[in-house]
Amino acid sequence: MKRYWSLFVALFAFPVAANAEVPKDDSYSKGEYIYHLSDCGACHTSRTGAPLAGGLSFPTPFGYIYSSNITPDKENGIGSWSYDDFANAMRKGIAKDGHHLYPAMPYPSYSKITDEDLKALYDYLMHRVKPQTTANRDPDIHWPLTMRWPLSIWNMLYTEGKPFKPRADQNAEWNRGAYLVQGPGHCGSCHTPRGIAVQEKSFDDTDPTYLSGGEIYGWYSPSLRNLKLSKEEIIDLLREGRSKHKAIAGAMDEVVTQSTQYMTTEDLNAIATYLLSFKDQELSSPTPPASMPQAAKMNGEALYANYCSTCHGMKGEGVDYVIPKLIDNPTVNRQDPSTLIRILLEGGETPPTQKHLPYAMPGYKWLLDDRDIADITNYIRTSWGNNGSLVTPKDIKKVRTYTTTIP
Ligand code: HEC
Ligand code: HEC
Ligand code: HEC
Repeated sequence: MKRYWSLFVALFAFPVAANAEVPKDDSYSKGEYIYHLSDCGACHTSRTGAPLAGGLSFPTPFGYIYSSNITPDKENGIGSWSYDDFANAMRKGIAKDGHHLYPAMPYPSYSKITDEDLKALYDYLMHRVKPQTTANRDPDIHWPLTMRWPLSIWNMLYTEGKPFKPRADQNAEWNRGAYLVQGPGHCGSCHTPRGIAVQEKSFDDTDPTYLSGGEIYGWYSPSLRNLKLSKEEIIDLLREGRSKHKAIAGAMDEVVTQSTQYMTTEDLNAIATYLLSFKDQELSSPTPPASMPQAAKMNGEALYANYCSTCHGMKGEGVDYVIPKLIDNPTVNRQDPSTLIRILLEGGETPPTQKHLPYAMPGYKWLLDDRDIADITNYIRTSWGNNGSLVTPKDIKKVRTYTTTIP
């Protein structure tokens, strides 16, 4: 996954550059801004294809589906779609010819985008995006699972399709943040847990499951409800993909590269204000630090000194703004270790943004076996005041499977 996100990020430098030529007072600049807020480019550009011509693959339990060409080409894209056709796809997941879209397209969240914003986005896509003649690719799913009518029942059961409703008891900044997170930003599509039919369990803050953490494609997207980050740190992470002590990795990379780096300071402030307003009671009392068996600890410590300490420091202290600190790092200490394990297996890089080239970390999947990776993982989760639970070689094996089965 990581591999393919970063590959098409490189390709996407092209439309970003083209967009940069649109003058700021251009009547389409509002639409361009909404386009960035809602991250269309991340899913609608494939690693080898033309910008917004679709073809990126998405795994489903039944096979792969592919994103569509959303350029204004009349034959292969959405050039012949009226605004109403477009709004139907964006809010109800129904294409112009009446077929139901798979919810890999986040229409359950986009239904909250206001009419004004959606119209600006439509005008931008129709007038500022270059038409591409790439034909849509049929899903690699076998009949009868290709039938799309069950999706209408799924929609009835699991989506709300309601417009965004500002809360009267909150101020304008909070409401702006709520709108951005729930609507165009569709942050819940990764950060909210999914139920038995892979539906998001909730779509707004009236439900305690909203943004409480979810797994998608083998990445764990942490809970955003009790963030142990300051407002400044949240803004840095969303704008630069790194903060003084932490870095963004994995499935969140492309969100930063394609979307949040373009947000205005006011909008980033609004998002941080909204996220920091979630004040749940801590569910469990802090557990005492786990202790590792002596031999495993010595192995973990030696491997850490050998492979990791040159960058992260002997005591996990990192280098401000360049190499994340491993002490008190949410990714290291998180109860669900999958994102941490995945970084150790595959490596990672900070998301490229307009201001920064990525800093990379190598992956150790070819070099170290499950036992060694488990020992390093446990060593950093129990050293320097960290307080993570222990993982087993079996946990490593499970995450390793994701790194080989998902393109
Ligand atoms: C998380 C990935 C994702 C994001 C983000 C996303 N889409 Fe999609 N979109 C898809 C997928 C996958 C499909 C194809 C679904 C199917 O075939 O059932 C799709 C289908 C569509 C369609 C239907 C096209 C057709 O010919 O049937 C439109 C229109 C569309 N997307 C527009 C957008 C716009 C505009 C944005 C940004 C506001 C956006 N999408 C963001 C994944 C995404
Ligand atoms: C494609 C899936 C995806 C989407 C969409 C997404 N995130 Fe994330 N996010 C992740 C993953 C995975 C991580 C963990 C990355 C890590 O540990 O470095 C993460 C981490 C974060 C963090 C750091 C939290 C911490 O405690 O370390 C913040 C803040 C965040 N996301 C905010 C957002 C916001 C705001 C949005 C919507 C604008 C959003 N995310 C959309 C997948 C996603
Ligand atoms: C060449 C320097 C380098 C080496 C060697 C290295 N790392 Fe990293 N590490 C980085 C960089 C840069 C990042 C940020 C990557 C990103 O954002 O995806 C990072 C990210 C991480 C993260 C995620 C931190 C966060 O804030 O999300 C962890 C955990 C981690 N490294 C642990 C290790 C361990 C354990 C080893 C040894 C097995 C190691 N690293 C080896 C440079 C390095």
